[in-house]
Amino acid sequence: MAQFTLNINNNTHQVDVSPDTPLLWVLRDHIDLVGTKFGCGIGQCGACTVHLDGTATRSCLLPISSIGDKSITTIEGLSENGDHPVQKAWIEHDVAQCGYCQSGQIMTAASLLERNANPSDEDIAQAMNGNICRCGTYTRIKAAIQTASKEV
Ligand code: FES
Ligand code: FES
Repeated sequence: MAQFTLNINNNTHQVDVSPDTPLLWVLRDHIDLVGTKFGCGIGQCGACTVHLDGTATRSCLLPISSIGDKSITTIEGLSENGDHPVQKAWIEHDVAQCGYCQSGQIMTAASLLERNANPSDEDIAQAMNGNICRCGTYTRIKAAIQTASKEV
């Protein structure tokens, strides 16, 4: 075990965990931020996506000891009132079905729009490629990202 100080959603958190503990486990089991989901645990589904210094990152593959003072943003911290343009577009397009993959989808989409405010269909397809939705909401996800891109 070792002590780590993490900057999560603009708050400081201290945890005492093994250095190889993946961030996903720390978020869910130690800090009770359960919006970030466990899907595959091997970097293949995107359910666990958070932002690390603004970049979409798979938290299931990220050892806590590798984070240092980088800022972590989870779905709970994406906006104060759930009114990030991506979140509003998600509601407008009624994207979610079971919802399980959706926080990861939203975090990947928000990161895409942060670096490319006017993505092409190809840009969207490429950025969202690693986020799997077993309910098949891909068409609505793409439409919602196009809507959100008009607001960022
Ligand atoms: S749980 Fe991390 S990519 Fe699937
Ligand atoms: S909404 Fe069910 S897995 Fe994507």
